[in-house]
Amino acid sequence: LAPILTIDGPSGAGKGAVSARCARALGWNVLDSGAVYRSVAAAALERSIAADDVAGLVSLCGDLDLVFEPGPDGILVRLDGRAVDERLRSEEVSVMSSRVAVQPEVRAALLALQRSHRRPPGLVADGRDMGTIVFPDAPIKVFLDASVRERANRRYKQLKDKGENVIFSRLFRDLEERDRRDRERAVAPTVPADDAVVVDSTRLNLDQVVERVLAIVRD
Ligand code: CDP
Repeated sequence: LAPILTIDGPSGAGKGAVSARCARALGWNVLDSGAVYRSVAAAALERSIAADDVAGLVSLCGDLDLVFEPGPDGILVRLDGRAVDERLRSEEVSVMSSRVAVQPEVRAALLALQRSHRRPPGLVADGRDMGTIVFPDAPIKVFLDASVRERANRRYKQLKDKGENVIFSRLFRDLEERDRRDRERAVAPTVPADDAVVVDSTRLNLDQVVERVLAIVRD
């Protein structure tokens, strides 16, 4: 089996950027499991399948043609050969993805697809349950965390740079609320695996986080 590095953690901890950078440095493949759930959500919206239509959602999981590539700033996603990063990041798809992600049948239907990305020379897997459920036997597991304030700050800057009108207090509150839901949900809660190394990026920049994670891999 190819080696695997799992990077789990809460929303906005920088998993995508760190995963892409690590995959490039190691020459490994990359899996964005958030994009897997987002793709199911986007397909469901396109075909008017409801978030509680489990049979309908499961049938979508069977024919997802997803290709991931580590880009310089994050993980690049192709769905059916098309770049879909913009579409998958839309608010509508974000909301739908968190609703489809709580269906155990959907999660089960996506296991094989996610595991099929474990190919030589190795895989960096980004998500919430990579180290706990999808790849429990992974030899290297990282849980990437940062304070809510810092994650809200980073997101705020990103949105400002894009020229969007955002209110910090609102963003902070939404993130806190989402954290709680993700941590406390019954299926695949966002918690570190028992054998994960917790990396707190609150006071580290991207280069420093990448350096620390690569040091764990080389250890
Ligand atoms: O970083 P952010 O939470 O904005 O999004 P994401 O990582 O792209 O994940 C999209 C949705 O899929 C979220 O609701 C996650 O909770 C869910 N997800 C999941 O349940 N399991 C994963 N392995 C990855 C994402």
